[in-house]
Amino acid sequence: MLRSYRISVIGMGYVGLCTAIAFASKGYTVIASEMDAEKVDKINRGISPFYEPGLNEALTEALRSGRFKCTSNTEMAVLDTDITFITVGTPSKPDGSIDLHYVKESAKEVGSALSHKDSYHLVVVKSTVIPGTTENMVKPILEETSGKVCGADFGLCANPEFLREGSALYDTLNPDRIIIGEYDKRSGDILEAFYKEFYAEKTPPIIRTTPVNAELIKYANNAFLATKISFINTIANICERIPGADVTIVAKGIGLDKRIGPLFLNAGLGYGGSCLPKDLRALIQYSKTLGYEPKLLEAVEDVNKHQPQRAIELCRKLLGELKGRRIAVLGLAFKPNTDDMREAPSIAIIRQLLEEGAEVVAYDPAAMPNAKAIFKDSIKYANSAIECLRDADCCILVTEWDEFKKLKPEDFIQNMRRPILLDGRRIFDPKEFSQKIKFMAIGLGIGNPEKAEEKNLQYQK
Ligand SMILES: NC(=O)c1ccc[n+]([C@@H]2O[C@H](COP(=O)([O-])OP(=O)(O)OC[C@H]3O[C@@H](n4cnc5c(N)ncnc54)[C@H](O)[C@@H]3O)[C@@H](O)[C@H]2O)c1
Repeated sequence: MLRSYRISVIGMGYVGLCTAIAFASKGYTVIASEMDAEKVDKINRGISPFYEPGLNEALTEALRSGRFKCTSNTEMAVLDTDITFITVGTPSKPDGSIDLHYVKESAKEVGSALSHKDSYHLVVVKSTVIPGTTENMVKPILEETSGKVCGADFGLCANPEFLREGSALYDTLNPDRIIIGEYDKRSGDILEAFYKEFYAEKTPPIIRTTPVNAELIKYANNAFLATKISFINTIANICERIPGADVTIVAKGIGLDKRIGPLFLNAGLGYGGSCLPKDLRALIQYSKTLGYEPKLLEAVEDVNKHQPQRAIELCRKLLGELKGRRIAVLGLAFKPNTDDMREAPSIAIIRQLLEEGAEVVAYDPAAMPNAKAIFKDSIKYANSAIECLRDADCCILVTEWDEFKKLKPEDFIQNMRRPILLDGRRIFDPKEFSQKIKFMAIGLGIGNPEKAEEKNLQYQK
């Protein structure tokens, strides 16, 4: 089918590369621009710079089709296309506020390319940016560097992205909704027409609104998800103090209420990743600049900051002093099916274990290279879950990869010095495991804490 638009995408991170490949997979010509030369080289050789299920295969296919290429030349990418998506990173500054310098730089490059372009062009800000960025920062930069007028010579939209790492390609092809924050009607019409062509009969609900609303929808969305997680972790922490209580049953019970819903109610060691923590911080800082103290959001962040500590506290309950103990950490990525370790709870947990003098051995199916860059030789690295368990005094399950769900109590008994397991993500059946090994889990009331200490003594004999 003849596609009506040629697309450029600036910034080949999780969002940019997955978006670009999804567009190419549906027949669009896509030129990607990335400032990191090493990434450009990898991508053009069909190797994704990060782990994302199915992405290497889809990238290879896109390159083979001749509809996709990656360059470090943003000007060329923009000039040869009709719509440019800006998907560069928007990290946190040390005070938690948003760092927009990648957005600024990319807008300058896009604008200077537009100065050489005669035909109308649409610029779409897909990066997560605080309300007002598209109109008050991107627009003036584009106008200044292009010498053109927004709304007349080129169009502009804010179009936040909601994909999840680990299912990024699927999410890009099957979004729940599309949010179009249009600077003017013509810009919104073009973006809507593009998405309707791209998704055809699978087009989800489209909301057309102002750029400010679109930008805020993204923050409100992530703040709500973070709130759900910190909420259920709060309930989990209460459950741990009630003999016989179990947060997974409580979550199931409340999740069946249609007003609440079952998703994002898995108690654990807290959220991490490149989005929820930084977006929540940015929204808090932004609210403060407006003169509003967002107390609820601050509490959500505070709960999350302390949640990885629960692993250490429970570990101490199980082992007493951690000094000299060998702790097996299963799972390092902030969630399964990704190698992303940005703000992963495993980092805080491992650092604390090391501080208390424990010896740490870790394993993750995808994140080992990223882990090695963070922890260097301060911890040991295993090649499998079983190797990780060998001779350990305690195992902490930190990331709920499917392959860990297959572990049986016997694996812990046969390989560990002492079969002691702390389930930080609630993937193991407490009944089965607590009958055979010493077992604790987030959100699981263990009964009388003294009894746990007694059990502990028995293991130490
Ligand atoms: N990762 C996610 O799951 C996710 C989901 C939804 C939204 N977002 C948002 O999307 C944006 C991108 O996130 P990400 O995780 O893909 O970021 P990332 O940090 O993984 O990747 C950004 C890429 O942009 C490149 N870049 C920066 N400036 C550039 C420039 N001027 N020209 C060319 N390349 C440039 C960087 O080298 C990097 O490769 C962020 O605003 C993020 O908040 C991310």
